[in-house]
Amino acid sequence: RQDSGWRVWRDEDVRKTLPKPTGNTHKGTFGTNLLIAGSDEMPGSAALAAIGALRFGTGKLTIATTKHASTIIGPLAPEATFSFDVKSAGIADQYLSVAIGPGLNPDDELETFIKDLLDQPVAIILDAGALSQRKYNDRQAPVIITPHPGEFSRLTGKRSVEIQKNRISFASQYAVENGLMVVLKGKYTVIAYPDGTGVINLTGNRALSKGGTGDTLTGMLLASIGTHQSIKAAVANAVFIHGACANDWVKENGDQALSAHDFDRLLPKICRHYS
Ligand code: APR
Ligand code: MG
Repeated sequence: RQDSGWRVWRDEDVRKTLPKPTGNTHKGTFGTNLLIAGSDEMPGSAALAAIGALRFGTGKLTIATTKHASTIIGPLAPEATFSFDVKSAGIADQYLSVAIGPGLNPDDELETFIKDLLDQPVAIILDAGALSQRKYNDRQAPVIITPHPGEFSRLTGKRSVEIQKNRISFASQYAVENGLMVVLKGKYTVIAYPDGTGVINLTGNRALSKGGTGDTLTGMLLASIGTHQSIKAAVANAVFIHGACANDWVKENGDQALSAHDFDRLLPKICRHYS
């Protein structure tokens, strides 16, 4: 409903707000993005997030991960550079925005790192292993969390079935209370902004219900907030295009075979369609 500050994010919104390619750019135009992701056990999550970032317009990407993971990620995302001992201090001087979580195991060390990271004046996307119950102090730079209903259940203490019945109100409440953006994933992803407004995304389908597609979305979000003027549109467009890729896929292939790495080929086509 329009009067509630909530509405559907439509085709024409995407066409209006997706950045148009301009002539005079260089690789630094959109800044360097930092992806903190992947572990020895889960190197692929970082690779899939990297594909999302690189195919959604990131100019330069640094991946903070383990040495072992880098040997697997490298061949899949040769444009990326690596960092093996990333420090939170000074991160805002080096990077435009940071995404953290895919393929990371939540533990005390990670939580401490994230607390320090949240003190830095840089846009931060928190996903997967970086999602936990914590307090978000006042910040200037945006925070975006991207839970699926199970993860949102862990954050809020509410049961998944309850969340699924009240997706908009729970996401919005959490966004307003914590001063951040909530991307509550699943069929009809809900995007709640900290001012109480939000949008609902209608693209996507069950072909996306596979391990790894969420990691790719996190990479797309990382790229998106660097290329858009409006952070609200940046988040909505990444979610919309991600789903639109899956819709395009099923037209030709049905829903079983989609894999997250297919976004490598789907994104160029779908981005062109909407820009
Ligand atoms: N319709 C539309 N979109 C969907 C649907 C659907 N039916 N099902 C899933 N999606 C989309 C979500 O909106 C989201 O963008 O697919 C993506 C899935 O993201 P995640 O749930 O984060 O999945 P991912 O992290 O890639 O892999 C799942 O996460 O928590 C773990 O145990 C879980 O191993 C599993 C892994
Ligand atoms: Mg996930």
